[in-house]
Amino acid sequence: MCGIVGIVGSQPVSERLVDALKRLEYRGYDSAGVATIDGGRLKRRRAEGKLINLETRLKEEPLAGSIGIAHTRWATHGAPTERNAHPHFTDGVAVVHNGIIENFAELKDELTASGAEFRTDTDTEVVAHLLAKYHRDGMGRREAMHAMLKRVTGAYALAVLFEDDPSTIMAARNGPPLAIGHGDGEMFLGSDAIALAPFTNEITYLIDGDWAVIGKAGAHIFDIDGNVVTRPRQISMVAAYMVDKGNHRHFMEKEIYEQPEVISHALGHYINFIENRVTAVSDAIDFAKVPSLALSACGTAYLAGLIGKYWFERYARLPVEIDVASEFRYREIPLSPQSAALFISQSGETADTLASLRYCKEHGLKIGAVVNTRESTIARESDAVFPILAGPEIGVASTKAFTCQLAVLAALAVGAGRARGTVSEQEEQALVRSLAEMPRIMGQVLNSVQPKIELLSRELSKCRDVLYLGRGTSFPLAMEGALKLKEISYIHAEGYAAGELKHGPIALIDENMPVIVIAPHDRFFDKTVSNMQEVAARGGRIILITDETGAAASKLDTMHTIVLPNVDEIIAPMIFALPIQLLAYHTAVFMGTDVDQPRNLAKSVTVE
Ligand code: G6P
Repeated sequence: MCGIVGIVGSQPVSERLVDALKRLEYRGYDSAGVATIDGGRLKRRRAEGKLINLETRLKEEPLAGSIGIAHTRWATHGAPTERNAHPHFTDGVAVVHNGIIENFAELKDELTASGAEFRTDTDTEVVAHLLAKYHRDGMGRREAMHAMLKRVTGAYALAVLFEDDPSTIMAARNGPPLAIGHGDGEMFLGSDAIALAPFTNEITYLIDGDWAVIGKAGAHIFDIDGNVVTRPRQISMVAAYMVDKGNHRHFMEKEIYEQPEVISHALGHYINFIENRVTAVSDAIDFAKVPSLALSACGTAYLAGLIGKYWFERYARLPVEIDVASEFRYREIPLSPQSAALFISQSGETADTLASLRYCKEHGLKIGAVVNTRESTIARESDAVFPILAGPEIGVASTKAFTCQLAVLAALAVGAGRARGTVSEQEEQALVRSLAEMPRIMGQVLNSVQPKIELLSRELSKCRDVLYLGRGTSFPLAMEGALKLKEISYIHAEGYAAGELKHGPIALIDENMPVIVIAPHDRFFDKTVSNMQEVAARGGRIILITDETGAAASKLDTMHTIVLPNVDEIIAPMIFALPIQLLAYHTAVFMGTDVDQPRNLAKSVTVE
């Protein structure tokens, strides 16, 4: 997390650096800062909180200079104060950093013993001190950079300015992404191509271990041993425009309402609607032959993967191993090289997901990426890319990316089933017809549930805790409902398998505890109703989200029932996701939280 940018050119840079930071705010918004070299002196402006504060600061105290670096922070080490905001300055060196320097404590002790004075609580400051010390001790700037990189361990994307060289930015990558942009007499550096899109679409991605010396005429790239290396220059397809909210109050609301349209694009990529079958989208993974599938992801993408597991097992009879990426990467799972692994990630940059991917690659598995950002590191390192085509998702809480991930996983599972002979041609056609219905039904649900949800959200906004329950694919959906609610409204929420209720969570039930039950009238419905009886018997307040048949069949006295149309089982998770997203959204709106940029979170997580 954290976003970094740099520009070296002939025109003033500070405004453009801030413009680029705006496109990186999804990476963190705890503080922001800019440094330039002006008249041979390093200068900086920094501000706590959102980027708007830095913009205000720059209006009051503009910053000249035609070379500069900038940063938007997601705090790891040290509180999100101005003092800890990047760029960090030490003795003629300025540094911005995305990642974590893992051996910072040891380096800090060593530097302190040799007289360095630390002014922040960050891990990053050791980089500035090391560079300054090596340079002071007589090393040239490149030599100092190389020596510093050999001392630090951990994850980093770095940009460095030396006061005594107002024509060069130095950069390094180990973990978090870093792109060099080629301009006309100017060069750029950014955490992604989107940040650089207004300036250039010619991009060179650094790979792990690379470092670079960037002047306005071009860049020299080196590997960790100091050898000159060449990395390809490519044309980025990302859009330069800033996405706006349209008529919506928040990006999250806009993205919820975009779902019928984006799902239809996503499905169009995987489905032949004329023949009602799933189209083969990649030869790299032969689902007919793989003995098993590994799935991994983080956050909402992981919950999409959990639903995907049900589908791959049910339709393709493929055993699925799934775990959150931060556990998957360290579990030492015995994996068969004949298997395939799918990594699900909106951003395509999540550090743990990428590390799990590399683990599977080392073990010889074929790798597939279910991603929204096709130019991301995860996409670039995969054998097969399955785009979810959700379009830019700005709200930190994932909504449309979740349902598009689900749509793609559903199509892949049906396609895999067909390839493995576990889904017949007729079954495939029926499943595809159901998938094709999804955009229309989503539109219908979005148009009808809002008034009821708003009413209910007003009540939820007064609660301290909420339980979500579900069975089958509604169980991961219950966890997603709880995650959505807690991340944007800060109300404590948990999602449980309905059958687990009696093994602990039932102790929490009293007349103050709302229990949201996700129960389409599927093969688990009667069992879920029994679990609702257990809640009702203890005075719990039930909010039932079901379909028309379920509403007629359930004789329970609920606090509220949200009734959705009857839909086929394969599309139920996407349809039932809508009231769950709206419930979290409206509750957060009632509570007055920052819906699109909730506290402590970031959209892209490039640290472990
Ligand atoms: C962060 C975001 C979540 C997202 C997760 C995984 O926690 O706030 O919305 O689900 O990262 O991100 P990815 O980009 O890999 O899907």
